Amino acid sequence: MIMAPSPRQNQFIVGCWQLDDRCWLSLPVNEIQRSIDTYLAWGVNSFDTADIYGRSEKLLGHCLKGRDDCRIFTKMVFFDEIPSPQHIQYKLENSLRNLQRDYLDNVQVHWHHPELDFAPLWEKLCTYQAQGKIRQLGATNFSVPMLTKALKYAPIQTHQVQYSLIDRRVEAAMQALCLERGITILPYGSLAGGFLSNKFLKFDQQPPQEMDHGRTFHYTTMIAQHGGWPGVQSLLQIMAKIAKGYNLTISQVALQWLHHQPGVGPIITGLTTNRQQIQQNMESLDRPIAAADLQTLSDTSRQLIPQAGDVYSYERG
Ligand SMILES: NC(=O)c1ccc[n+]([C@@H]2O[C@H](COP(=O)([O-])OP(=O)(O)OC[C@H]3O[C@@H](n4cnc5c(N)ncnc54)[C@H](OP(=O)(O)O)[C@@H]3O)[C@@H](O)[C@H]2O)c1
Repeated sequence: MIMAPSPRQNQFIVGCWQLDDRCWLSLPVNEIQRSIDTYLAWGVNSFDTADIYGRSEKLLGHCLKGRDDCRIFTKMVFFDEIPSPQHIQYKLENSLRNLQRDYLDNVQVHWHHPELDFAPLWEKLCTYQAQGKIRQLGATNFSVPMLTKALKYAPIQTHQVQYSLIDRRVEAAMQALCLERGITILPYGSLAGGFLSNKFLKFDQQPPQEMDHGRTFHYTTMIAQHGGWPGVQSLLQIMAKIAKGYNLTISQVALQWLHHQPGVGPIITGLTTNRQQIQQNMESLDRPIAAADLQTLSDTSRQLIPQAGDVYSYERG
């Protein structure tokens, strides 16, 4: 019997930065395998990683060995140098070896110094695509000028950017560009590392630092740039009220709001080993929130969370 594909297959991608034990609690391999199997059982078969996420690519390759039905999005990272053809080939072969694949489903070129000319990189990646070694090309954290330039050289199909009710810089101009050029927006940080959840409703003051959790390292800085914790706390209160009316959680409201934004494709949701959280996330789109409440969320976040600039504006330096 042929099973119909689960709708969740196109709704979510499991983010696997969490397998990098330099930024996150070091998870044992059997626990990682169990979590990945849980996501697969929910019908999600896409995963996101990067060549700079420590052991993540290797672990994913191990856990998904033989699962040709799964898609793995990875990233090629060159920060401050124009890579030589040899360096690009080395990176490609390394990712293929780590992921135990004959081809890469999607290679996302990571942000780099905006003045570097990456045309030779894109041309090389197009050659690999023509040879079948790469199926799809993507970018991550590019500015509008960087993406516009890159599109002259390569058929970029996805752009991975931070997007949530606390970070809406993509709406300044990037979203319109992606819509115009048919590029799917893959949002990450949809829960701001978990800050957009009922767990943080109780914190009137800045939550304590957690040294083995990426949210401290990554999303605390973002919140500080976007007006600080009080605005986030007020937003959480409004989200909680709306969530209650639908018997949803704050995280489910956050994911559903994001799902309704123009140009947004599958949401990248960072791996958690907590089965209840996995279930909440997977069921987040099942009970629709009324358009008026989604609009209230947009308006409230706009009022409470000041932010300016393009995608990744201050992080890029
Ligand atoms: N392109 C880039 O530069 C870039 C940057 C960052 C991330 N990413 C990618 O995007 C993925 C997702 O981003 P992210 O993990 O940083 O952010 P996220 O998805 O907003 O946060 C994930 C964290 O939130 C917590 N969480 C998950 N579900 C929850 C729920 N229902 N309630 C409460 N907490 C919940 C989990 O922590 P606990 O299990 O501890 O509760 C989980 O580790 C990453 O894994 C990575 O693949 C890309």
